[in-house]
Amino acid sequence: MENWEQFLAPYEQAIEELKVKLKGMRKLFEIDQQHSPIEFVTGRVKPISSILDKARRKGVPFHQLEEGIQDIAGLRMMCQFVDDIEKVVHYLRARNDFEIVEERDYIAQKKESGYRSYHVVIRYPVETHNGLKRILVEIQIRTLAMNFWATVEHSLNYKYKGQLPPGIEMRIQRAAEAAFQLDEEMSKIRGEIQEAHQMFLRKREKK
Ligand code: GTP
Ligand code: MG
Repeated sequence: MENWEQFLAPYEQAIEELKVKLKGMRKLFEIDQQHSPIEFVTGRVKPISSILDKARRKGVPFHQLEEGIQDIAGLRMMCQFVDDIEKVVHYLRARNDFEIVEERDYIAQKKESGYRSYHVVIRYPVETHNGLKRILVEIQIRTLAMNFWATVEHSLNYKYKGQLPPGIEMRIQRAAEAAFQLDEEMSKIRGEIQEAHQMFLRKREKK
């Protein structure tokens, strides 16, 4: 690649714009005094070395990087509860400033590693000095527990170059199961608190 800076500039621009837009959604819920399904949003452009690694791994030729690698620009939207993920996806589908090109549900169908998240790939228009450029951006939507697990698993894999010591892989899978149980329990607790609150309101109305 002759000019990475030039190639990556629209991706940097897209990440900056989308962080503002998606964080803005959280703010609107707050103003409305509603529970925000979005806890926080992060974004990054993939480092050049990782783009090259992935291109090699997937056999993507240089002139096809834009279409062949969907997560050169990546965003993460973290939620408190599993139910929130569906709501976030719903809002993304309703937006008019980008188009969804693919959805992958690794919550209904977790990965072999134990990984869970909902992936949405969008085509996002960026205004550049050479006109409009429509780039792919991957958005990962997950709970805080899913994010905790994925972050630790990723750094372990990185540290051991994907060759985890025997026994560790199984324990990581079990940790994924524990994260899943935590999500379930938190949802139940929230459900019961909401129910109790509704009952309290109904009783008060009758008085
Ligand atoms: P990639 O070659 O990784 O892009 O796989 P893919 O094209 O099938 O896309 P997929 O939706 O499976 O995964 C894309 C991204 O999801 C990765 O770059 C990671 O950020 C995340 N991911 C997928 N699997 C795992 C996993 O087992 N552990 C962690 N920590 N992250 C994962
Ligand atoms: Mg991918």
